[in-house]
Amino acid sequence: MSDRAIILQSGGGYDKVTLGKRPAAAPKANEISVRLHANSLNYHDFAVVSGMWGPAEPRIPMADGAGVVIAVGDAVTEFKVGDHVVSTFFPTWLDGEPNVEGFATVPGDGVDGYARETVTASVNHFTLAPQHWSHVESATLTTAALTAWRALMSDDQLKPGDSVLVQGTGGVSIFALQFAKMVGATVIATSSSEEKLAKLKQLGADHLINYRTTQNWGELAREITHGKGVDHVVEVGGPATLEQSMAAARVGGHISLIGILTGLGGELSIVTALIKQLRLQGLIVGNRTQQQAMIRAIDAAGMKPVVDKVFPLENIVDAFRYQESNQHFGKICLQM
Ligand SMILES: NC(=O)c1ccc[n+]([C@@H]2O[C@H](COP(=O)([O-])OP(=O)(O)OC[C@H]3O[C@@H](n4cnc5c(N)ncnc54)[C@H](OP(=O)(O)O)[C@@H]3O)[C@@H](O)[C@H]2O)c1
Repeated sequence: MSDRAIILQSGGGYDKVTLGKRPAAAPKANEISVRLHANSLNYHDFAVVSGMWGPAEPRIPMADGAGVVIAVGDAVTEFKVGDHVVSTFFPTWLDGEPNVEGFATVPGDGVDGYARETVTASVNHFTLAPQHWSHVESATLTTAALTAWRALMSDDQLKPGDSVLVQGTGGVSIFALQFAKMVGATVIATSSSEEKLAKLKQLGADHLINYRTTQNWGELAREITHGKGVDHVVEVGGPATLEQSMAAARVGGHISLIGILTGLGGELSIVTALIKQLRLQGLIVGNRTQQQAMIRAIDAAGMKPVVDKVFPLENIVDAFRYQESNQHFGKICLQM
């Protein structure tokens, strides 16, 4: 059985990435064994692997993993050998309101993740993958897609004709664009690159703004909605973008506080939030039931993810260096 694994030594950092072996145990009653074929990269995985939020003890990184079930425990009814599966971000948050704080239970951070060829884990660590998706495609879902899905479809209930603002061309924002178009919403998309803006247009973005050349992009977004403001902002920038996100939002609008691309903290204009009666919602990914709902919708819509580049597992550091360069459009993946 294949058992190669990336093992990040304590503290993290690119010089602490090693290739080792971790054989998977035989599954217990409620467990499955999975032959993993792909991972996808997220900013959170970058923070762990680069050492920004390095692990206290040696850790197999990567929260997003997809592959094939190769063995099932005696009590497992949900999966069978041969099923294509994708990992869950919170194996202990199955349904309902959030019940987890931080990342102590998250694979690839608080516990071992999926930069490995085989794993045995409880059924709650996986769901079925979309039909007709490759393993690389399915590996894009765990973190970025579910975050976008929850922001738009669970924390808010996006409707046809609503307006959505997405920022930049990373994994979360492109999935948010795709889900918004899936339900017939109008999308205002921003990027620092004219070339990437042209690609956003091909994906269905209705209005495009270069946030480098248009500093007050939030006000422009509001003008695009004839002064009303957008219904939903998928906020991934953090301190440097929140003010413009609040300018873009309509009275009573929903802003999903998702990303920290420009820093961890900053000033918040409480008075703007009050006057506009904004709904600011912090979130971390989503639960297993939300992942299953998202995958049902993906299957029904025949949607496909945007994969920018695929690296071999052992070139994981090159993949993260590429992510850091911000050249990508959509998801970066690893393949085994
Ligand atoms: N809360 C959660 O559950 C959750 C889940 C997933 C991700 N996140 C967070 O969300 C953020 C995005 O994650 P991701 O995986 O989508 O990242 P990513 O794929 O690495 O996205 C990077 C892209 O963001 C854009 N960007 C960078 N700075 C920006 C700015 N100042 N304004 C607007 N866009 C900017 C750039 O797009 P252009 O090149 O087009 O300009 C860049 O290519 C990260 O902070 C991540 O930690 C949070």
